[in-house]
Amino acid sequence: MSKILQITDTHIVPPNDLAYGRVDTTHALEATVETINSILDAIGPVDAVAITGDLTDYGSREDYERFKAIMAPLQLPYLALPGNHDSRDNMRFAFAGESWMPASGPICWHMELENFILIGLDSLVQGKSHGELSRQNLKYLEDVMDVADGKPLLVGFHHPPVTIGLHVMDQNNLWQTEALTELLERYEGDIRLITGHVHRSSTSLFANRICLTCPGPSHAVSMDLREDAANCLTKEPGAFMLHEWRDGFVSHVIPVGRFDGPHPFYP
Ligand SMILES: [Fe+2]
Ligand SMILES: [Fe+2]
Repeated sequence: MSKILQITDTHIVPPNDLAYGRVDTTHALEATVETINSILDAIGPVDAVAITGDLTDYGSREDYERFKAIMAPLQLPYLALPGNHDSRDNMRFAFAGESWMPASGPICWHMELENFILIGLDSLVQGKSHGELSRQNLKYLEDVMDVADGKPLLVGFHHPPVTIGLHVMDQNNLWQTEALTELLERYEGDIRLITGHVHRSSTSLFANRICLTCPGPSHAVSMDLREDAANCLTKEPGAFMLHEWRDGFVSHVIPVGRFDGPHPFYP
């Protein structure tokens, strides 16, 4: 059965820096890698890890090298998409040797697994906080759909195409979603959408497809649904997701860290 882990919004910063002056994103990603390696026997086999954007906070070449160094002990292959904090050019430079990285243009990729096709779409509008899927990227999705012949699709991109009630984030979600809606509605097969950007878990419906946002490993956008809520972060427990195929897609949120247990319920 096909399984994909999703990590998102790792926001790696320069050495000895804290993101936003207070979040140790390096430690959080190290702990995520350690957590995944430690539970692999229990949850695997896992095909790959999809990183859905904001790998770095500033997008410098050095920060991508740091990201790669922290990820090196991970016992799984990974593919990555850019988020609004990333630099497409510097990310391409960092991952130029990877089979999934296109030599030019948007960073879109797909990977056919036994039970579904994993598709990554580049929603970065360089220099902007919101996201868009360009005509070219929607054509990429459409081309994969054309040959997929109804096979289930797990489609990842950074910016959620929905609003989830976090007003500042909602203003900078995925814009201009009409053509995406049309493609998703037309496809005759299962589709699950997996996104990031809002640094917390949510489940909604978009174009009649289940759409998930994945928590980040280090910090959440504060859970404040008031319209005048300030743009704040809260250091909630970090987490990542597992998306697997059973009779259909099943998605799990898994916290980062080691916890007391497992203990038999009835020893
Ligand atoms: Fe982010
Ligand atoms: Fe983002």
